[in-house]
Amino acid sequence: MGHILVTGSSRGIGKAALAKLAERGVPVIGHASRSHTAADGAPPIIAADFGDPQAAQGLWEAALELSGGQIDAVVNNAGRFEANRLDRSDIEWLDAWEDTLRVNLTSAAQLSRFAVNHWHARGVGGRLIHVASRAAYRGDSPAHWHYAAAKSGMIAMHKTIARAYAKDGILSFAVTPGFTDTSMAGDYLASRGGPGLLADIPLGRVAAPDEIAAIIAFCALDAPPSMTGAVIDANGASFVR
Ligand SMILES: NC(=O)c1ccc[n+]([C@@H]2O[C@H](COP(=O)([O-])OP(=O)(O)OC[C@H]3O[C@@H](n4cnc5c(N)ncnc54)[C@H](OP(=O)(O)O)[C@@H]3O)[C@@H](O)[C@H]2O)c1
Repeated sequence: MGHILVTGSSRGIGKAALAKLAERGVPVIGHASRSHTAADGAPPIIAADFGDPQAAQGLWEAALELSGGQIDAVVNNAGRFEANRLDRSDIEWLDAWEDTLRVNLTSAAQLSRFAVNHWHARGVGGRLIHVASRAAYRGDSPAHWHYAAAKSGMIAMHKTIARAYAKDGILSFAVTPGFTDTSMAGDYLASRGGPGLLADIPLGRVAAPDEIAAIIAFCALDAPPSMTGAVIDANGASFVR
């Protein structure tokens, strides 16, 4: 099997996914916005800040070289979740909107395009896994219009890719997590509005990164081709549809 590129894998869900795929014996390539010192034997992490429009292309080219020219799957996981209140100045609000759309959606579109073209050129199939969010369907807080819009856009892109290229063996899967505790410092609940949010989750807790990573690994390695185009919810039944 060729390599799997996992974006945003320096921490949180992406780090857990990278580890899970590596455990399965798959050669993996990680990514983060900036350089991180990798532990001995850990997968390589390529630095590329998606705030820069050329960063996704630089990442793709670097990953292709590291892989020896054969990438078989891409996990579009990198993302930012930063508040953008309506009472900011016009230019601050617009800048934050553009930045979140670029990091959370445009970079994933660029990488998906490079991957589809790469698989077509090689005459092989491949897999894309998009880490979107419950917010794609449910919306988000009043300060996160941009985040919800980017994640909805990701789902629409995913379905389009799945429908367009299934005939070529190019499969696309999306995962839509609800709250997932990715904080090392244990302040995750506070950062998302306090313990009250648990009242909304029938499971009684937020997801663990490992749980979302298990779904990502399933989509990358095990999901039957007939599942292409699927969106897999993981939100403790806080949003059922
Ligand atoms: N946690 C949740 O509750 C939750 C819920 C639903 C969906 N999600 C989605 O799941 C994905 C992973 O979330 P997470 O909570 O695991 O995130 P996280 O712990 O905040 O980690 C974010 C990852 O994305 C990278 N990243 C951030 N800004 C970037 C930029 N400008 N350019 C390139 N890479 C950038 C980070 O790299 P650095 O380390 O270099 O900053 C890091 O590797 C995201 O797409 C998120 O929207 C998360």
